[in-house]
Amino acid sequence: MRTQVGIVGAGPAGLMLSHLLHLEGIESIVLEARSREYIEGRVRAGVLEQTTADLMAEAGLGERLKREGLLHHGIYLSFHGTRHPINLTELTGGRSITVYAQHEVIKDLVQARIEAGGQIYFDVEDVSIHDFETDHPKIRFRKDGRPEEIDCDFIGACDGFHGICRPSIPAGVLTAFERHYPFGWLGILAEAAPSSEELVYTYHERGFALFSMRSPTVTRLYLQCAPDEDLAQWPDDRVWTEMMTRFRTTDGWEPNQGPVIQKGVTDMRSFVIEPMQYGRLFLAGDAAHIVPPTGAKGLNLAIADVAILARGMAQFFKSGRRELLDRYSETCLRRIWKVQRFSWWMTSMLHRFASDNDFDQRRQLAELDYVTSSRAAMTSLAENYVGLPL
Ligand code: APR
Ligand code: PHB
Repeated sequence: MRTQVGIVGAGPAGLMLSHLLHLEGIESIVLEARSREYIEGRVRAGVLEQTTADLMAEAGLGERLKREGLLHHGIYLSFHGTRHPINLTELTGGRSITVYAQHEVIKDLVQARIEAGGQIYFDVEDVSIHDFETDHPKIRFRKDGRPEEIDCDFIGACDGFHGICRPSIPAGVLTAFERHYPFGWLGILAEAAPSSEELVYTYHERGFALFSMRSPTVTRLYLQCAPDEDLAQWPDDRVWTEMMTRFRTTDGWEPNQGPVIQKGVTDMRSFVIEPMQYGRLFLAGDAAHIVPPTGAKGLNLAIADVAILARGMAQFFKSGRRELLDRYSETCLRRIWKVQRFSWWMTSMLHRFASDNDFDQRRQLAELDYVTSSRAAMTSLAENYVGLPL
């Protein structure tokens, strides 16, 4: 097989890259280890920055998003039993966020690729990448047990944090920057109408809690927990008791309860590799970086990377020029580090750290008080939350 860009991974990064390349008249093939049903059903992130929603609309993917996405103009920061509004739209000159589940983005992208005659191979096995330091990279894999090979001009490494592309780069080329957090998030989806218009980020002495939603009938809630928390110890009634304890405010606000339809634990880390390219291999999305979910940035960063990568590839295929491609890593990393900083800052401000003492707790509360009362501080949070420009 021959194509211009071979893409490993059909997450948001790989599928969006393939779609953006198609809009530039560039052919690609996407290889995915899982089935279409699996990737279209996997519950993950759910907040789109204005920057991401704009990109989707420009790429012709805005219709269902506009119809079914929940537009939000603010968030709450809650502490000491009070919810404090941060009006994102007012603070950023009209920008906002949209709650739209990551797997809905995936469904829209898969459908757009298939309608355009795009090639996605699901359920592939033994993917390996070769010769990417030359002008003729190759991808080998098995489909239905048969060996296959793709010759291409570039490889898009969009295979997530546990993928095979990053470890295929020779030792000594990449530098990893990493921080682990001593906690995780226990998340549930509940069949209950969201009781707040806006997301609520709660600082509580028992730990962080986050109120979010997926639709007018489904609430999404998270609790700070141990990184290796055993779900067997968390029957639904214990989850609800802990949720209510952390969320309930003195004016009587609390989440609505309902049947729990999904439960899981997410670990929390910050990770970046540099550079994000080697020869004709380009890493994008979780393959190159991970953010803790507190800033809701993982999906948005993945989309930003491939928007920059698609521009570079378009320049190359139209003119033979490589300036944008050569600067891909540098361009992405400037923005990625700012987003890492924001995600780390939100995480540090809102979680209880076992190593913290009473001084640190007072400092965190002072920071929350500052962020919810100073317009300058609020504006900084807001401009990062709705998404820095590309
Ligand atoms: N061969 C083929 N496909 C692979 C391989 C492999 N060896 N390894 C992994 N994959 C696939 C995974 O099955 C997954 O579908 O690559 C895809 C990577 O997708 P994501 O993990 O969603 O990563 P990305 O597209 O970068 O999107 C980042 O996803 O993890 C969330 O919160 C994160 O929102 C962020 C977003
Ligand atoms: C979610 O709805 O899953 C969500 C929202 C905000 C976050 C993280 C996750 O910061």
